[in-house]
Amino acid sequence: MKKWFAVIGDPIEHSKSPTMHTAWFEEMAIDAAYIPLHVSADNLATAVTALKTLGASGWNVTIPHKTAIIPFLDELDELAEKMGAVNTVVRTAMGTLKGYNTDGVGFVRSLEEAVGTAHKDKPILLIGAGGAARGIAFAMQQQGYMNITIANRTVANAQAIVDEMGVGCAISLTEAEERLADFAVLVQMTSAGLATGSFAMPFSLERLTKGAIVADIVYNPLMTPFLQAAKAQGATIVTGLGMFVHQGAIAFEHWLGRYPNTNSMIVQLQAQLGGQE
Ligand code: ATR
Repeated sequence: MKKWFAVIGDPIEHSKSPTMHTAWFEEMAIDAAYIPLHVSADNLATAVTALKTLGASGWNVTIPHKTAIIPFLDELDELAEKMGAVNTVVRTAMGTLKGYNTDGVGFVRSLEEAVGTAHKDKPILLIGAGGAARGIAFAMQQQGYMNITIANRTVANAQAIVDEMGVGCAISLTEAEERLADFAVLVQMTSAGLATGSFAMPFSLERLTKGAIVADIVYNPLMTPFLQAAKAQGATIVTGLGMFVHQGAIAFEHWLGRYPNTNSMIVQLQAQLGGQE
């Protein structure tokens, strides 16, 4: 029987996941479909029941359901449990639902694909301490990045993540700006990438070292104000597009046991999103 998958969220129109997974099914000659489903917070319980009844093999979960979906699942992967957030649901052979979070590992793969692994022991600055930042901090720790500092407007939120990780340190945005030359890799994970105006930058990058690597997790726009400023300082930049494609590829692998072609997808989506890095 034809398999089918979905992404549930509110809003959902902007999601590139249906285009990406459908292209992979075609490329790999897999008889399956992937559809966007607009599910409001009030309808989450009925939507999960419907997805089960109608035989979805799995689905992605996006804002605002990543945490709210957890009570409806039978089992959680270790990283999803630590993050308290799920972006991928797999219906197992037994018919039970298992939740994964592929965002953080997707980010690490994208970073390593872009710049290799030579920076694993170097000082890393994560900027932001929201849901996305939490996922990336835990995934980086799990993948062997040990020298992590988290900077955030509300230092207590960064400290909470550091306490849970058991390593690293939490600092303010001002301190991060002052100590910028200490860090080899910066990852921008606040809502600033999406913003315009005064909050478009969490802080100035004037003190950035030449040769630093600067990543943003936002992929639309591809060149966030933070990345533009980093590029102007001579940094190597990593857009959020690779993270998006790899989180989808890891979900795909959980569902179908094969890893799709991420390189050609990054090129295709880059063209759709307006060009070069
Ligand atoms: P997400 O799930 O995308 O990570 P979130 O959980 O709402 O979103 O987190 C947003 C992040 O952006 C937080 O680090 C937040 O800082 P606080 O913990 O201090 O709230 C940061 N952020 C949002 N607006 C900001 C602003 N105007 N200035 C600085 N940081 C901001």
